[in-house]
Amino acid sequence: MRATAKAHTNIALIKYWGKRNEELILPTNNSLSVTLDGFYTETTVQFNDQLEKDTFTLNQEVITGVAYDRVTKYLDLFRTYANRQGLYAEIDSTNKVPTAAGFASSASGFAALAAATAKALQLDLTNKELSQFTRQGSGSACRSIYGGFVEWEKGQANDGSDSYAIQIAPQDHWDIRVAAVVLTAKEKDVSSRVGMKRTVDTSVFYDGWLNSLPVDLAEIKQGILARDFEKVGSIAEANCLKMHATTLGANPPFTYWQDTTMTVMQTVQALRKSHIPAYFTIDAGPNVKVLYLPQDEQKVLETLRNTDGVSDVIVSKVGKGISYL
Ligand code: DP6
Repeated sequence: MRATAKAHTNIALIKYWGKRNEELILPTNNSLSVTLDGFYTETTVQFNDQLEKDTFTLNQEVITGVAYDRVTKYLDLFRTYANRQGLYAEIDSTNKVPTAAGFASSASGFAALAAATAKALQLDLTNKELSQFTRQGSGSACRSIYGGFVEWEKGQANDGSDSYAIQIAPQDHWDIRVAAVVLTAKEKDVSSRVGMKRTVDTSVFYDGWLNSLPVDLAEIKQGILARDFEKVGSIAEANCLKMHATTLGANPPFTYWQDTTMTVMQTVQALRKSHIPAYFTIDAGPNVKVLYLPQDEQKVLETLRNTDGVSDVIVSKVGKGISYL
């Protein structure tokens, strides 16, 4: 009753930004991401009928409080499904996702936890089922079941049975690069969960965001399949700007950007003026991710590293889906 799984994080090119059901984590819109090889979580889950409760260590630190409660409540989903109430586990997780890089470690974290738990319980889930379980830990995590380019279908059903991720193109379809630009700026103070809820509930721009998505999704999928980098990059950058615009229309208004965020965005736009195709995207935090092609790596990294307020730049290639160790 023991299994170890490894999952990579992902970066959304079309953002998930809003829920229609907070309990089941059902989104208001489809989203699309690329899985990244540079950042991952490895998790071992060992069930043991001698345990009286779950234990959770993350990076060798014993976790208690809210983070522990979230994990043990999440395991209850599997216990209920497997009819193994009262069977507890030791969960040991290692995160190779530098928090400072501004990646949601919850994406790789819940994907690895779901995969290891399902395997330890010998549930033999399909990837579709695994993605549905993972979604209920953290929405963006359901895309990390697959490598390459992945879409999360929002679905229509109230029970979430049609809300899961599917692969659009595999890891080896296209060698693009993503640089995570780490800023000296402070950590975010509005979590993605809180930020997206406030936006859905109050933003005067939210309908505009939703209405623009079907075209963005259709076009970016064409771009990915055709390996049209300018098309994919420009849609991703515009989609990110629209998502962040919704936060300014919320009540109270907020933004994840810092002055250094803007500086990096302008650096990327200046690279394009000098004919280097590079595009940015930003999640619910100040850090910027930059998409570029392998042949431009040297110039892009040098430029980013020489930008004021940048403390580190970490490169990823397109990553693979869940694996078992
Ligand atoms: C801006 O998946 O962290 O990164 O479902 O509440 O756990 P919960 O939210 P989460 O939100 C990610 C939001 C985003 C966009 C994206 O990854 O699609």
